[in-house]
Amino acid sequence: MNLPRKLLSKSLVSARQSIRNKSFVRIVEVGARDGLQNIPTNISTEVKVGLINRLSETGLKTIEVTSFVSPKWVPQMADNTRVFQEVNKKKLISYPVLVPNLKGLEAAIKVGAKEITVFLSASEGLSKKNINCTIDESLVTAKTVISKAKESNLKIRGYISCTVGCPYDGYIKPASVAKVAEALLSYGCYEISLADTIGVGTRSSVEKMLEEVLIIASPDKLAIHCHDTYGQALVNVFTALEKGLTVVDSSVAGLGGCPYAKGATGNVATEDLVYMLHGLGAETGVDLNKLVEAGRFISDYLERPPASRVNNALFSKMK
Ligand code: HMG
Ligand code: MG
Repeated sequence: MNLPRKLLSKSLVSARQSIRNKSFVRIVEVGARDGLQNIPTNISTEVKVGLINRLSETGLKTIEVTSFVSPKWVPQMADNTRVFQEVNKKKLISYPVLVPNLKGLEAAIKVGAKEITVFLSASEGLSKKNINCTIDESLVTAKTVISKAKESNLKIRGYISCTVGCPYDGYIKPASVAKVAEALLSYGCYEISLADTIGVGTRSSVEKMLEEVLIIASPDKLAIHCHDTYGQALVNVFTALEKGLTVVDSSVAGLGGCPYAKGATGNVATEDLVYMLHGLGAETGVDLNKLVEAGRFISDYLERPPASRVNNALFSKMK
């Protein structure tokens, strides 16, 4: 009984020191993209834009807007151009969009996106299901897309899915993640978001994966993206903070899921993340009350309660 308690308090101290040294944790809000892409009923463009505009008022610095993927593969994102154009963009906020190939890049450039995100997988199974190619093929595409995006002075972020487990391939070796991360960084991504797509990661498996990736990349080049399927997301985020990462992806109201990753539920809720970070003494620049309102807006529209404990707790006090 004593050992885990000691270990935990040591972790808490080192994570707190790590956070205080940097003090600011940047949150990448993915609710309007990851959160909505998996919802089978058509969500109107107005509601998507309304959600993003509300999120823009919360103090968040990075808000994913949509993805320029094939509408045959993800029909919910088919209104990508309109959503991007109609959002009331604020000066100090970055509004990245997902791009799988050159066609997506061209559409993103045409609409005026300043930041794109390429998305690959550390598992062959998800790569084939999600983007219809092998990991090696996806690296070739990403290299071309990134090189073209650089010519247009775009910022480029990278995702790696299934960094600890895959719905098709099971356990994923940390070395497979490091290999893809190293390639993406060498092509020109400024940051790689390491995703636990189906939320199977534990403190131990996430730590092992991070330790391997940190051999080839410094913590300031990495972000963590945790789905909360098994309720481990906050612990796994905490593990990443402890390793010195200061960028965390999350989704308002805990929305989220990948249509091609069976069993993937929502991301860690932004409200829960902000509450934890503020409790640790980190700054986020985010107004939690405004965030709760944005979460309510989309949850009311979807006629479901937010999958955020903090949202539910604070909302009952706000009434
Ligand atoms: P494909 O079928 O191999 O592609 O799909 P293709 O080149 O043969 O094209 C098929 C059709 O799609 C053609 O149209 C293309 O023009 C069109 P047709 O001739 O049949 O009328 N097409 C496009 N249309 C619009 N925009 C495009 C585009 N590309 C082709 N960019 C492809 C390959 C990559 C396109 C497809 O598999 C795809 O779109 N996949 C996206 C899947 C997706 O969006 N998944 C969710 C995002 S990833 C995620 O959620 C994980 C993440 O959150 C991290 C984590 O948690 O793990 C990021
Ligand atoms: Mg995701």
